[in-house]
Order: sequence, then structure tokens, then C-alpha cells
Amino acid sequence: MSSTLVVVGQGYVGLPIALRAAETGRRVVGLDTDAATVAALNAGTSHIGDITDDELRRGLAAGYRATTDAGCIAEADTVVVCVPTPLAPEGGPDLGAVEGAARAIGSHVSPGTLVILESTTYPGTTEEIFAPLVLTDRFTVGVDLNIAFSPERIDPGNTTYGVRNTPKVVGGVTPECTRRARDFYASFIDTVVEAKGAREAEMAKLLENTFRHVNIALVNEMVRFSQELDIDLWDAIDCAETKPFGFMAFRPGPGVGGHCIPVDPSYLSHRVKAKLGYAFRMVELAEEINHAAPDYVAARVRDMLNDASLPVRGSTVLLLGVTYKPDVADCRESPADPLAVRLRSWGADVRYHDPFVPVWHPHGSDETFHREADLGAAVAAADAVVLLQAHARYDLEALADSGAVVLDTRGRLTPSKVVARL
Ligand SMILES: NC(=O)c1ccc[n+]([C@@H]2O[C@H](COP(=O)([O-])OP(=O)(O)OC[C@H]3O[C@@H](n4cnc5c(N)ncnc54)[C@H](O)[C@@H]3O)[C@@H](O)[C@H]2O)c1
Repeated sequence: MSSTLVVVGQGYVGLPIALRAAETGRRVVGLDTDAATVAALNAGTSHIGDITDDELRRGLAAGYRATTDAGCIAEADTVVVCVPTPLAPEGGPDLGAVEGAARAIGSHVSPGTLVILESTTYPGTTEEIFAPLVLTDRFTVGVDLNIAFSPERIDPGNTTYGVRNTPKVVGGVTPECTRRARDFYASFIDTVVEAKGAREAEMAKLLENTFRHVNIALVNEMVRFSQELDIDLWDAIDCAETKPFGFMAFRPGPGVGGHCIPVDPSYLSHRVKAKLGYAFRMVELAEEINHAAPDYVAARVRDMLNDASLPVRGSTVLLLGVTYKPDVADCRESPADPLAVRLRSWGADVRYHDPFVPVWHPHGSDETFHREADLGAAVAAADAVVLLQAHARYDLEALADSGAVVLDTRGRLTPSKVVARL
């Protein structure tokens, strides 16, 4: 058997892993069900913000190629699965793509292959759902095939931590599976951490994201009453952050977005409820608080307009940065969506500016929103400006000095008569 890595799913997660492995001299095939994605990748056109066309072309030159043909799995000594796990209507992950990938592997895999699931899911998925479909009745885990889970920690837009220098956790269905998964990642990732098993590796990922979700909810709740008590929570957080141990700073914001923080913790609460019959209350409360954050921002905009003797109806509100995090083009689950929908429902003329988003059709809205091309003119024309994402290319000093009424949801501007922090 030749030494070939097949990475199933060539999206935000799968493509960077495939190219990183190709860089180290491995033969890598990217398997994806989307023919248009595969054709673009083979033509040297990247669809992922973090991967430039040049990086992709270097990968192609090093032996990487993409395909829709699952037959490539027969050639693989290692298969890594990075397919989507969106939220199912009942709250857990929709495992359709994971099951589809597992079945494809089960039909083609050769004895001796290492198969690793990276898609985020609830603890137990690898052993209970994924492994049986991969093994079929032909193979035994730990004997003919090795199967492991390794959570993906990629942070899109992060220029400091990428695939190579972000430690990788691995947990196999058997100790031998863990060892093989460790050796595989150690060949192209600096630090590999062994979990006790697949369930612990699955839980580690959900713990990381639940920790973020809950701590963001904590400050999002505190910011509301701090404002009413006339306490500057941002300043209090800066002070607390000087403690060299036992504290990690989280800052308030307009809500949580993206496809991980608002989504993954509910995989865990769904699992606890389905298996044990009781609620994971921390997650439920965090969801409630973070979900309400965009409405709180809308209420603050209404108050600021009121202070300027303006009704919301008919006022022009400019939203700056509508992506879910700064310096990426990804709008999935962005809190800008419910905020825009709420302000428009109150009659505001909502416009937006975002260098990364040429067309914006917020979830929950029937229409696209007006995009401002000239930032300075748009700020000057707005009755209120809301800074939602402080993209690096925004001149925040110019915004603070513009004289516009600004609500800063990121704590990046110095408060003044016209500039308020959340
Ligand atoms: N994007 C992130 O920042 C991030 C971070 C950590 C974890 N994750 C997790 O990683 C997983 C993948 O996420 P992503 O952001 O890369 O998704 P994505 O939507 O960017 O890409 C997934 C790719 O898989 C392909 N695909 C779907 N079903 C397939 C199948 N059965 N066989 C082959 N290809 C298939 C799609 O066509 C798509 O190209 C998810 O579980 C996600 O929760 C994502």
C-alpha cells in the first residue's frame, strides 16, 4: 500500500490540513462531494480565506490533488474526515455528512488504514456512530483498522496559530489507535497530546467551546447591569486582567457568532438530555444571555437616538463590520443579523459597511441591506453608527473623531460625549 493521506471534506478545516501535510512531502488527496469546489481547487483557486491561491498552487506542485471519487480511499494509509456537522432541528449535530463519509470509507478502505474523525460532535459519536459504519462487518477496530477522534481547533483569521503550531489532541478507540493517530499528526504538527480515549478527545473540544460561550455570557450579562449602575465594566475587566493567576479576560460584545461557539455547546447539552434526561443548565443560560445580546445592542441604539431627540423610525443606522469576527469574510450566525432585523422592524433605515462583505442578506430578513461604499460619507450621513467588528483596516481614531454618534460594542474607542461603549 502506498503512503497516501485522504482528507474527506475540503472546507475551512480540511483544506489547510491537506496542504500542511502535502508540504511535508506526503501524497495527499482531498475528497469532496462538491464538484465545483474540487474543480476550482485543481485549477489552483482557493475558496478559503486563510489559504491563498499561491499556497494552494504550491500544494498542487507538491502532489496535492482534489477529487470527488471516493475510490481514492482504497489507496490511503490514513483518512482524515473534516465534513460539516451543522445544528439539527432538535438541537444535536446533523450527522448526515459524517455518516455519508463513514459509509464511503467503509466501502473502499483497505486493511491497515488509520481513520480519524475531526468534525466537531458530541462525545460517543466516534465509537457509536462513526466506527461501526467504517468497520462494516469486514473489519475489527484495533486489529484491521485504527480509528480515532482528533478535534479541530483551527481559528480562521489567526495569523499566530495555524495547523503546525496549534497542539493537536488525539483519542483512539483503542490505545493502539491513539498511538497511530499521535504518530501521524506528529509528522507535521509540533505538539500532539494524547487523550485517554476518543470520548475524552470529543469532550475536550466541547469543553473548550463551552468555556468560551459561558464566559462571554458572564460579561454580556454583567455589562447590562454595570451600565445601569454607572460602572465601567470594560475598565473593571482591564483591572482584573492584571491578576497574574486565576483570571482570564473575556469582553462583552454584540453576541456570539460563527459555526462553533453558538453551536457546539448545544451538542453537549443535547447529548446530556438525550442520554441522561436532565439539562446542562450552564449552557442553556449562556445561550439565553448571548442570544439576547443583539436585542440589547438594539435597545442601546434606540436610547442613543432618543438622547439626540430622534425616533428610531426613519433614522439612519450604520452597522460597521457584519461578519462574526474581525478580518474574515464569514457571516455565519453573525449577531449583526438579528440586530439589523430588529432595528429595521422598528423602522430604522439600516445600512452597513464591511470591506469583506460585498452583498449582505441577513438571516431572518427578506431582503439584502444597503451597502455603503464610502465609509467617511456613510459615517457623516448616519444618525447612529454601531461598531460591531473592529476590522484591522478600520481607522478607529478617525471614527472616534468624526463627531458621529457611535455605539462601540467592542470597547475599542475612547468614550466621549458622542461615543459610548456597550
Ligand atoms: N471552520 C472552523 O473554524 C472550524 C473550527 C473547528 C472545528 N470545525 C469543525 O470542522 C468540521 C468541518 O467544518 P468546516 O468549517 O471545514 O466545513 P465547511 O463547510 O467549510 O467544509 C466542509 C466540506 O465538506 C464537504 N462535504 C460535505 N459532506 C461531505 C461528504 N459526505 N464527503 C465529502 N465531502 C463532504 C463540503 O462540500 C465542504 O466542502 C465541522 O464539524 C466543524 O464544526 C470547524
